[in-house]
Amino acid sequence: MTVPILSLDHVDFAYRADRPVLTDVSLAIAPGESVGLVGESGAGKSSLLQLALGLRAPTRGAVHFEGAPLPARRVALRAFRRAVQPIYQDPFSSLDPRMKVGDAIAEPLRSLGIEGDRRARVAGLLADVGLPADAAERYPDAFSGGQRQRIAIARALAPSPRLLLADEPVSALDTSVRMQVIDLLRSLARERGIGMLLVSHDLTIVSALCARIAVLEGGRIVEVGETAEVLSRPQHPYTARLLASVPRLPL
Ligand SMILES: Nc1ncnc2c1ncn2[C@@H]1O[C@H](COP(=O)(O)OP(=O)(O)OP(=O)(O)O)[C@@H](O)[C@H]1O
Ligand SMILES: [Mg+2]
Repeated sequence: MTVPILSLDHVDFAYRADRPVLTDVSLAIAPGESVGLVGESGAGKSSLLQLALGLRAPTRGAVHFEGAPLPARRVALRAFRRAVQPIYQDPFSSLDPRMKVGDAIAEPLRSLGIEGDRRARVAGLLADVGLPADAAERYPDAFSGGQRQRIAIARALAPSPRLLLADEPVSALDTSVRMQVIDLLRSLARERGIGMLLVSHDLTIVSALCARIAVLEGGRIVEVGETAEVLSRPQHPYTARLLASVPRLPL
């Protein structure tokens, strides 16, 4: 069996000792695999992503990157920071309004000490996400929500990640551009073999992007399986209820 890029192994997590947020969560993402994470508001989805990003530590269990526990040695941590990149929900607050788009995209290259021709790299990344090269010289406020999310995706792609952790990446966007951003994420995953852990309320989006789905209820994974299988034949009553109740964002 291949070593997962990232795995959570029997992870517990809480912000306050008396309030468990995640309980005995185990989830592994194989190289190139896209996994959807669904569950009601407050189920712990964003908290799980924070652990997966190494921004918070589990209170029990461990997060493994390529088989080694986090936090790892410095060198390995740098490899982790390159390999695992976040994409957030709101492209308005995730981009610094005072930073030119080209500098924002190059920022991870700089902070991770990745050498090379950064201008050329930025131009290539802008092209990859369907934006013109001159976008580099402009500020985020010159762009629409969908374009900003493309900029955020370009920034996430800058260090050539192996896994994207996306928290509701299209729910803040106009319905008219949602499908375009989803198509972009799908082609990045398929063409480059980038894995994805995608949090979404929207099962249509999870179906479009993820072969596998994990259902989180009150901080526990109650069901994991192939997306088509889980959505057509949910085994857990919570999944069935979620299927009946969640909004399906128009695409
Ligand atoms: N920074 C924090 N400090 C304390 N408690 C928090 C913090 N962030 C989240 N929580 C609590 O942890 C629980 C899980 O929250 P989390 O944001 O992970 O859920 P979620 O599934 O992402 O929800 P949503 O769908 O609304 O984004 C909730 O009870 C929430 O109130
Ligand atoms: Mg959340």
